[in-house]
Amino acid sequence: MLLAGHETTANMIALGTLTLLRHPDQLARLRETDDPRLIADAVEGLLRYLTIADSGIVRFVQEDTTIGGQPVRAGEGLIFSLPAANRDSAFLQDDPDRFDIHRQARGHLAFGYGTHQCLGQNLARTELQIALPTLLRRLPELRLAVPFEDVRFRSHTLAYGIAELPVAW
Ligand code: HEM
Repeated sequence: MLLAGHETTANMIALGTLTLLRHPDQLARLRETDDPRLIADAVEGLLRYLTIADSGIVRFVQEDTTIGGQPVRAGEGLIFSLPAANRDSAFLQDDPDRFDIHRQARGHLAFGYGTHQCLGQNLARTELQIALPTLLRRLPELRLAVPFEDVRFRSHTLAYGIAELPVAW
């Protein structure tokens, strides 16, 4: 629970803050709104765009079937990429690599899918819907304290994240 419940949301808050700082117009819109629907859309957008559970979801095939035109047999193993699924043009036709708090991102797979879908997803959503707007409101001058190129990302860990996020306000 500590890894699944803390590492993930902590990384999402830091990466979400960085993403918003890189999209100042959307940050400004989120800072000024108290519309819960827009806040929820922004959080879903961040979850989709960042998809921090990026280490590959492993499943075993139960019965012979076909996935994406490829036959798979019962007993074979499959590894799924959630970031690839969330940026697939079959899911979002219009420029899936673009972050936009106004676009409809519901139905994304950032929390996985099926029996093992994230147990804590509603807690995670609530944390993000509270933490990000509160941070932006309380620190109106929030900005990166180092050039973006100097931010150190952690990509070979359980959840994608940032080693540290130096900010000033
Ligand atoms: C933004 C935050 C989070 C993300 C992106 C996330 C992502 C995921 C993903 C993709 C899975 C599915 C793994 C699989 O299919 O093998 C998962 C499972 C799980 N998550 Fe989360 N999670 C987050 C927050 C949390 C929180 C806050 C908790 C608990 C407090 C939590 C507890 C769990 C547990 C227990 C499972 C395993 C469920 C099972 O195997 O049946 N997660 N999470």
